[in-house]
Amino acid sequence: MSLIEVKNIVKTYDTLGIFNGIDFTVDKGFSYAITGKSGSGKSTLLHILALLDKANSGSYYLDGKEITDSDYKNDTALSRLRNERFGFVFQDNFLIGDYTALENVMVPAIIRGDKRDEAKKRAIKLLCALFLDERLKHKPSELSSGERQRVSICRALMNNPDVIFADEPTGALDEENSVYVQDMLLEIVKDSGKTLVLVTHDMDFALKCDRVFRISGHEIGEVSRT
Ligand SMILES: Nc1ncnc2c1ncn2[C@@H]1O[C@H](COP(=O)(O)OP(=O)(O)OP(=O)(O)O)[C@@H](O)[C@H]1O
Ligand SMILES: [Mg+2]
Repeated sequence: MSLIEVKNIVKTYDTLGIFNGIDFTVDKGFSYAITGKSGSGKSTLLHILALLDKANSGSYYLDGKEITDSDYKNDTALSRLRNERFGFVFQDNFLIGDYTALENVMVPAIIRGDKRDEAKKRAIKLLCALFLDERLKHKPSELSSGERQRVSICRALMNNPDVIFADEPTGALDEENSVYVQDMLLEIVKDSGKTLVLVTHDMDFALKCDRVFRISGHEIGEVSRT
């Protein structure tokens, strides 16, 4: 059974057609890269897969169970599901400006209702693993952009999610930092046996994933690696 399966997804914004009925499957333990031109629909697909957006029509299955229209309408249950199962890393890291790195990483666990002390311990462990030991009390504005992305990776991992969704996670970084954060993200995903769905236009980054897809002309297809 696949972790996530979407079938016959149609997505339009008013008169603008994005997808004409695409299928996509995410299996546990694999890393997927979604590539394509700007405006082709990469973020749109990621948001649909991450239950942040809904297709006009088509089906969505999580662990083989269909997410129905009424599931989509229940915001609280859907938010809880995302909080427990999914981790997110975005290009603009969306860290909370008034919170320290440590507090930012703790947020998903606090939302889930974990005890503060336990959340703190786990957050420190994650931040140390990403070499941010000396930055726990820094606010986002006091961190470099690469450090901010490492903090957002820690936050994505905080609730031990099944899937990490990353939308251009290194898009705002210089090349050296970009490669560093890429390798760190992929190493964590591999070592922990997690599943990664990555959107990137950086083919070198994409090719480090197990499977590479490209969106073009309202369709999605796997990129041949030979
Ligand atoms: N909320 C919205 N309302 C109307 N149109 C939208 C909306 N969100 C996205 N679009 C349009 O849908 C198309 C696909 O957008 P999407 O953000 O998925 O592209 P993308 O492949 O992620 O591009 P980029 O590489 O620039 O991030 C774009 O042409 C965009 O203008
Ligand atoms: Mg995008």
